[in-house]
Amino acid sequence: NEGALWGGRFAGGPADALAALSKSTHFDWRLAPYDIAGSRAHARVLHQAGLLDEGELKGMLAALDQLDADVRSGAYTAAETDEDVHGSLERGLIERAGPRLGGKLRAGRSRNDQIATLGRMYLRDHARIIAQGVLATVDALVAQAKEHHGVAMPGRTHLQHAQPVLLSHHLLAHAWALLRDVQRLQDWDKRAAVSPYGSGALAGSSLGLDPNAVAEELGFDSATWNSIDGTASRDVFAEFAWVAAMIGVDLSRISEEVIFWATKEFSFVTLDDAYSTGSSIMPQKKNPDVAELARGKAGRLIGDLTGLLATLKGLPLAYNRDLQEDKEPVFDAADTLELLLPAVSGMVATLKFNTDRLESLAPQGFALATDIAEWLVRQGVPFRDAHELSGAAVQLAEGRGVELWDLSDEDYAGISEHLTPQVREVLTVEGSLGSRSSQGGTAPEAVARQLEQLGSQLESV
Ligand code: ARG
Repeated sequence: NEGALWGGRFAGGPADALAALSKSTHFDWRLAPYDIAGSRAHARVLHQAGLLDEGELKGMLAALDQLDADVRSGAYTAAETDEDVHGSLERGLIERAGPRLGGKLRAGRSRNDQIATLGRMYLRDHARIIAQGVLATVDALVAQAKEHHGVAMPGRTHLQHAQPVLLSHHLLAHAWALLRDVQRLQDWDKRAAVSPYGSGALAGSSLGLDPNAVAEELGFDSATWNSIDGTASRDVFAEFAWVAAMIGVDLSRISEEVIFWATKEFSFVTLDDAYSTGSSIMPQKKNPDVAELARGKAGRLIGDLTGLLATLKGLPLAYNRDLQEDKEPVFDAADTLELLLPAVSGMVATLKFNTDRLESLAPQGFALATDIAEWLVRQGVPFRDAHELSGAAVQLAEGRGVELWDLSDEDYAGISEHLTPQVREVLTVEGSLGSRSSQGGTAPEAVARQLEQLGSQLESV
């Protein structure tokens, strides 16, 4: 068959079952524009090496341009008999350039170095799109933080009321995690910017082709220094899948909070209609499906990573056909995030916070107990004792079903002579928040400095 790239040493054709198993055009076709870009660069180094004359190079490039246009318009697609994108595009090239010229392009390259290179090109482009989507979510969190700066909420550990924090502080905690994900994508790109093209099947080329010229034309920083590594390694793919999974996990943690914040019991947020769904039976329902799908898709992204790692484990050097299984997980990871990120950033941007409720709940559940203990420390009481005394106040208040500020001066004096009426200065949310003014703390001024720092790191990504 015309799309076949091999066959000379075989007496018969492949079994239908093998052909069906072998086929990858249904998922590798998205690499076609990258394959053609690689072919252009390869044609130029064949010309430089004296293997294509001036006229042949012009003819080759013209045929590749025609093929590119036909692929993009959909006029040229993979045939049922094509094994993979590379074989199909060689068939398309030969149809346009004729067999004498079209048959020359394959010299000095292999599908093994091609596929390793094209995958990197694809992922580098999509890492940029994903980074933009993550940054849009960071921007939405920052905008909400700025809009609500000064609003207190219950800070939690173990999901229990712990200490009051600023809502802006809480939202920015998610923003920092996502900013690091963007930084990870950028750092990953340095390792992805090495081109395997020119590695051939595994050992390099005998034809005097310049791998760095190809690398440069394809936007890489350099060509690989080891052709075996270039064709056999997929750690760069796995690292991409890891960062994608981490982004999924970070979006899932935001989403989980949005889901319970939107419950009747919490009532911290109202979801915008544009980012909620209804029920087919219960007319009153307004469901947080964006957040639930984000939480669900995190599982899928983790699966993409673990599936790929399992494929790589135990593979001897160099290329093995198992590596054809590298593409679907990373394509799925990119597709998933590109679908998810606009929905999550839109959901976050349009959240309406119930600030009265957040503020009134902020000190409840004895969330100011640490403030009493730390106030006692400032009066010279050892923290061990201060912790016990504050705990005694909590026990007294809890027994009476009241909050710490409802206890009288006499109640406090009865617990300890150190608990003078002045302790009331820390029994307010403002006092509690304002006292945590160290770098990274939740005091309004510390959070303002945090916002500046985050802003400047955002400018350098
Ligand atoms: N389609 C293969 C892949 O995705 C590339 C072809 C390599 N095939 C081979 N027989 N060496 O990895």
